[in-house]
Amino acid sequence: MTDKTAKLVIEGRDPIELPIYSGTLGQDVVDVRSLTAHGLFTYDPGFVSTASCESEITYIDGDKGVLLHRGYPIDQLAENADYLDVCYLLLYGELPDNTQKGEFKNIIMHHTMVHEQMHEFFQGFRRDSHPMAIMVGVVGALSAFYHDSLDISNDHHREVAAHRLISKMPTLAAMTYKYSMGQPFMYPRNDLSYGGNFLHMMFSTPAEEYTVNPVLARAMDKIFTLHADHEQNASTSTVRLAGSSGANPFACIAAGIAALWGPAHGGANEAVLNMLEEIGDEANIEEYIKRAKDKDDPFRLMGFGHRVYKNYDPRAKVMKATCDEVLGELGINNDPLLKIAMRLEKIALEDPYFVEKKLYPNVDFYSGIIFKALGIPNDMFTVLFAVGRTPGWIAHWKEMISGSYRIGRPRQLYKGHTQRDFPKS
Ligand code: CMC
Repeated sequence: MTDKTAKLVIEGRDPIELPIYSGTLGQDVVDVRSLTAHGLFTYDPGFVSTASCESEITYIDGDKGVLLHRGYPIDQLAENADYLDVCYLLLYGELPDNTQKGEFKNIIMHHTMVHEQMHEFFQGFRRDSHPMAIMVGVVGALSAFYHDSLDISNDHHREVAAHRLISKMPTLAAMTYKYSMGQPFMYPRNDLSYGGNFLHMMFSTPAEEYTVNPVLARAMDKIFTLHADHEQNASTSTVRLAGSSGANPFACIAAGIAALWGPAHGGANEAVLNMLEEIGDEANIEEYIKRAKDKDDPFRLMGFGHRVYKNYDPRAKVMKATCDEVLGELGINNDPLLKIAMRLEKIALEDPYFVEKKLYPNVDFYSGIIFKALGIPNDMFTVLFAVGRTPGWIAHWKEMISGSYRIGRPRQLYKGHTQRDFPKS
C-alpha cells in the first residue's frame, strides 16, 4: 500500500516512522495511527488536515474546482443522467444499465408512501416549527416504524433501509411543508419522475388538478443531483460517526440532517435568500461587502467560500444555468433578487479580500433563487438539500458498515483543571 514513510522527530525521543499512503487521486496521507503507542495524539480542530476514512465514492479537487462521483464529473452527470442514475451510481459504484435502472426506479417509486400512523406523528409538532426540526424528528422516527430493516449486519436490511430512505425523504419533506400550510398531505404518485412526484406532493391539493411542468421537474431533479454527495463534509462525517457506534440507518440519517441544518453547511441556502432579501437593493451591496470584510463584524457573505473549494464550486455553475432555465420557463425576466445576486457575485469576484482568500460562490448561492421562483418558502430550502444529500449519506454509511470500521472516537488536548479534592465543608 505504501513505499514512502515520514519521520517524526521529537527532541529527546527516537524518531517515529509513519507510513504514507497515496490514493488514486489527491493528496497523500500520513498514517498517524501508531502515535498513540508513543503517547501522542495529533491536534487538528475542524479536521482540516485529517482523512477520517478510505472512500471510493466522491473526489473533490478544491483548487481546480473538480467534483467527481465514482469518477464522473458533476456537470456531465447533471447534464446526461437523472437523479436516480446518480443515486444508483453512488450506492453501487457504476451507472445502471437500462434493466438495472428500470428495476431501481421501480423499487424507489414503490416505497414512496410512509406509514399512515406517521400522519399523527406530525400532529405533535407546532404548525410554526422549522421544517428542519420536523425532519430531524420524523426521519429518526422511521426507525420506530420499520423494524424489519434495522439490523445493520444484514445485507438485505441495509439495502431495504437505503431504498426506503431515498423513496420516503421527498414524501416527508413535502409533508412538513403541507403541515406548515395547514393543507392536507398529498399521497405520492409513483407514475411521475422523482422530481415531478416531489413537486406534485408539494403543490397539488385535492381541490384541483395539478399538472407537473416537465421543465421544472427536470430542474428539481438536477438540483437533487447537484446535492447528492460531497465526500466527508460535516453532515456525512456525522452520519459516519453515528453509524460507527452501530446506530440504525434512520437514526444516522437523522443525525446527518441535524448537522446539515447549520448556516455554515446546508442552512446556507436559506441564509443566502434571507441575506439577499435583507440587502434589498443593489445600492446597499457595498455596505454588506464592507461588513463581510470587517473582522469585528460576524456577518459573512452567505453562499461564498468553502472549506475545500478554492476555486468556483462546479455545482454553482450548473446551479446558475438551472436558475436561468427555471426563471425563463416561469417568465421571470426581472427578478430583483437575482439582480442583487449577480451584482454581488461580480463585486465579490473582483474584490481583493475575496480574491485573496479564494472565496467563490458555492452551491447554495443560486439554489435559493430557484426555490423561491418555484414557490418554495425559505425555511424549506435546507430540507431540499437534505432530500438531495440522502443517497450520499447512505452510500457513505453503507461503505463504512460493509467494510472494517471502528467506533469513531477522537481525542482532545485537555486544558481544564488538574485533579483537585472536593472542598470540605
Ligand atoms: N464571507 C466573508 N469572509 C469569509 C467568508 C464569507 N462567506 N468565508 C470565509 N471567510 C473568511 C474568514 O473570515 C477567514 O478570514 P481570515 O483568514 O482573515 O480569518 C477566511 O475567509 C477563511 O475562512 P474560514 O472560516 O477559516 O474557512 P472554513 O473553511 O473554516 O469555512 C465556510 C468554510 C463555508 C464555513 C465559510 O466559507 C463560510 O462561513 N461561508 C458562508 C456560509 C456558506 O455559504 N456555507 C455553505 C458552504 S457550501 C455548501 C455546504 O457544504 O453545505
